[in-house]
Amino acid sequence: MNDTIALLQNHSSVRSFENKPLSEEQVNHIFKAANQAFSFSLLQAVSIIRITDEKIRKEIMELSAGQTYIQEASEFWVFCSDFNRNHQIAPNVDITYTEFLQIGAVDVGLMAQNAMIASESMGLGGVYIGGVRINIEKIAELLGLPEYVIPLVGLCIGYPAEEKNPLKPRLPQSVVMHTNKYEPLMIEDIEEYDKEMRYYYENRPVRAPFTVRKVKGWSNHIDEHLERSILPNMLKFLNKQGYAKK
Ligand SMILES: Cc1cc2nc3c(=O)[nH]c(=O)nc-3n(C[C@H](O)[C@H](O)[C@H](O)COP(=O)(O)O)c2cc1C
Repeated sequence: MNDTIALLQNHSSVRSFENKPLSEEQVNHIFKAANQAFSFSLLQAVSIIRITDEKIRKEIMELSAGQTYIQEASEFWVFCSDFNRNHQIAPNVDITYTEFLQIGAVDVGLMAQNAMIASESMGLGGVYIGGVRINIEKIAELLGLPEYVIPLVGLCIGYPAEEKNPLKPRLPQSVVMHTNKYEPLMIEDIEEYDKEMRYYYENRPVRAPFTVRKVKGWSNHIDEHLERSILPNMLKFLNKQGYAKK
């Protein structure tokens, strides 16, 4: 196994940080690694808003379900799908097609993950913050996002304050990887994984406000979290920003 594979296979989110800034050199390395990510047709439909203002950070924290690590991390970056630039260059192209939402979302994911992996490779850690979508309209206003720009995910980066969490088990390859055609789920196939997750949840340290304490297994976790993930006003916001109208 090489170092890159070892790093990827040992990932776990960090939600507790030392009060210590990153050097500008570290920030530049992370940015350059992110900016060199794959990009659909080189559209480069991403903007990163680096939040250095403590007041704005606090507001984002409050608007994102009070996740305190947003304030505590050395760096907090908001990754936005951004077709505003493209639109200014090619104003005759209709950006309101849903495909542009998908292109932007994938580009954001790739870039954010490059940032995260670059950070982890330097001994730093972090966590994504999908919570920035809970009050997405207010966050967009706070960040002054124009038409065709939407915040998709935040990234906390910093020095882990304590031992990293134990690895969170993932679904087995037999469930996730299909060969040549889609293979329907046999519910028995996740029973073993449910047991593994039950053990994980019962034994993990409880730190995050989102921590679910009474989880019986992964299936039970999905039950709760699917429901929580519904943001009923999202389409209205997307349309307002010029996304996914057709
Ligand atoms: C798009 C995205 C959004 C996420 N949002 C949050 C969040 O708002 N708060 C949080 O504590 N973790 C968040 N996470 C982290 C996941 O909960 C975490 O990656 C998952 O539970 C697996 O744990 P691990 O990363 O430690 O392996 C997010 C992850 C992703 C990919």
